[in-house]
Amino acid sequence: MDLAGKKIVLGLTGGIACYKAAELTRALMKEGASVQVVMTQSAMQFITAVTMQALSGRTVYTDQWDGRVANNMAHIDLTRDADAIVIAPCSADFMSKLMHGGCDDLLSTLCLARPAHLPFLIAPAMNVEMWQNPATQRNALQLKADGIALLGPDAGEQACGEVGMGRMLEPEQLLHEIVAAFQPKSLAGKRVLVTAGPTFEPIDPVRGLTNRSSGKMGYAVARAAYEAGAEVTLVSGPTALAAPHGVHRINVQTAEQMHDVVMAHAEANDVFVAVAAVADWRVANVSEQKLKKSGDSPAPLLQFEQNPDILAAVAARTNPPYCVGFAAESENLLQYGEEKRKKKNIPLLVGNIGPDTFGKDENELVVFDANGHKRLTLASKMQLARQLVAEISSRLP
Ligand code: C5P
Repeated sequence: MDLAGKKIVLGLTGGIACYKAAELTRALMKEGASVQVVMTQSAMQFITAVTMQALSGRTVYTDQWDGRVANNMAHIDLTRDADAIVIAPCSADFMSKLMHGGCDDLLSTLCLARPAHLPFLIAPAMNVEMWQNPATQRNALQLKADGIALLGPDAGEQACGEVGMGRMLEPEQLLHEIVAAFQPKSLAGKRVLVTAGPTFEPIDPVRGLTNRSSGKMGYAVARAAYEAGAEVTLVSGPTALAAPHGVHRINVQTAEQMHDVVMAHAEANDVFVAVAAVADWRVANVSEQKLKKSGDSPAPLLQFEQNPDILAAVAARTNPPYCVGFAAESENLLQYGEEKRKKKNIPLLVGNIGPDTFGKDENELVVFDANGHKRLTLASKMQLARQLVAEISSRLP
């Protein structure tokens, strides 16, 4: 659980995206957080306090003058043992209030009274014109300058029927951002390039060769690097996974495409983590038309040629980024892992201990460097990715 023991004050302000706050509450609690909901009067036009109370299992606060609070200081009491304040959705009006330090209801007063060290995240949600209005843009800039984290908004269809910037992030994206707020920023200011997933090598226009990589480990590494403060580019073969929020994903199909994209980005990055299961060979005689079976004519013969080794090519550059490779061996991992690290001339190689980690959510790893090897015991791929990011950042010059 990524938020075990964390106490989150979740503020809701007036906006149709309040319905997503119900889902967010559940998601936060599933990760082990306790959620104290505070709502403005406008928020209660969109979703009831009863719903939020039932989901959070806690009394919802809506009023500065709440007779249940003995000292009448809910705005102080609620934040003093909190670990973070999240406002989702945050309306244009509430942003404006935060910018000016206005405090005419419980939620705004609580925000003004928050301890300075407390992580404070807001998820703007409003109509596209309201978001683009210079007044809101000024407010957004000032709030960032004040150290407030703005999560989104995103572009897309809006409840009003218009299309553009202003949609609140989805609950899962918000959850990931909140989890990220608690991670150490060991890669702040760094750029990280990650490959993930399988590649797909065509045989003809409808058929091709691929492998069982799900992309989960590579996507977890990309997300963990983003959590650690890096600017992340993820070069991904075909997978069913959504791009981690905040990560720039470039989709490719073949090993050659992956090679070209990676080489174009290698120089701009400080770290390169090659997690993709790249096909070693591609079909040399790709058919332009679909291969037809007809009568008892012989089965087609495929010829192969070798794909470029992307990791070795990046490592061979002058001034390469810090290169990290992965190895999936079915035997003798300790011997083959170290040999592979030396052969590819990379400082760090990560071996999968489990013989069959494809598609699974858990894994067990060994990391090899010039000083030897170290085990990362069985854990979720996300937890392992965070440990790996820590291993990488501690080795960066
Ligand atoms: O040589 P092998 O395929 O076992 O090496 C695995 C490592 O090399 C992984 O990090 C993988 O992403 C990378 N690799 C690559 N390009 C290839 C083959 C493997 O970047 N053509």
